[in-house]
Amino acid sequence: MRKLAAGNWKMNGSVEDLDEVTALIAAHPAPGCEMLLCPPATLLSRMAERAAGSSLMVGGQDCHAKTSGAHTGDVSAQMLKDAGATHVILGHSERRADHGESDISVRAKTIAAQAAGLTVIVCIGETEAQRNAGDTLAVIGRQLEGSLPTSLTTAPDGLVIAYEPVWAIGTGRTPTLQEVGEVHGFIRATLTKRYGEAANGLRLLYGGSVKASNAAAIFAVPHVNGALVGGASLKAADFGPIVLALAVS
Ligand code: PGA
Repeated sequence: MRKLAAGNWKMNGSVEDLDEVTALIAAHPAPGCEMLLCPPATLLSRMAERAAGSSLMVGGQDCHAKTSGAHTGDVSAQMLKDAGATHVILGHSERRADHGESDISVRAKTIAAQAAGLTVIVCIGETEAQRNAGDTLAVIGRQLEGSLPTSLTTAPDGLVIAYEPVWAIGTGRTPTLQEVGEVHGFIRATLTKRYGEAANGLRLLYGGSVKASNAAAIFAVPHVNGALVGGASLKAADFGPIVLALAVS
């Protein structure tokens, strides 16, 4: 399985920041794992142009479930693909919170994006209140049940799950390695029940305050096959060491 280092620029970045992409590619011409950046939609095609012919892939941060039509402000999976995307992040907790996205809509978007030929990164994760109440695995189980297609219609590398505890995103706090292992083991077992042996080929990413200093330890946890990185993906000097740590893990 090829491990995946994915960066999520969120609502950050303008044209001048594409120099970070050039620096990242120059520093990691053959990284030894998959390397992906998901910029805001405004930068997607220009980032894809910078990345052309390199080992960097680019992706979107959301898409609509429909192909086209009267949906002001939205972007379809086909449009992401047309702009040069190979991947899309769906169901990020910030979309679930800011835009009221439900598991049902994440599933519809996932099916649409896979039909368009994109690799989908589906995000799940518990809030701090849910963890404190001892509900983490129940929440993760519900989100997997509701957000994922009922059958695996693509090759296993076309579907990626990112476990991102909401309370660890952008806070500098992370679960213990044991907690990460518990949730990733649970996700793998749940996917195996659902999809059978093919689930062993699905990449499971950890996300939430991943940085150079904690990356190697997190990547050593069983069933962690990569990372979804927010803040530390904006600068090549921060993201590069995370990519390297994954490549040697
Ligand atoms: P962070 O964000 O790395 O800034 O915590 C992770 C994410 O939201 O994907």
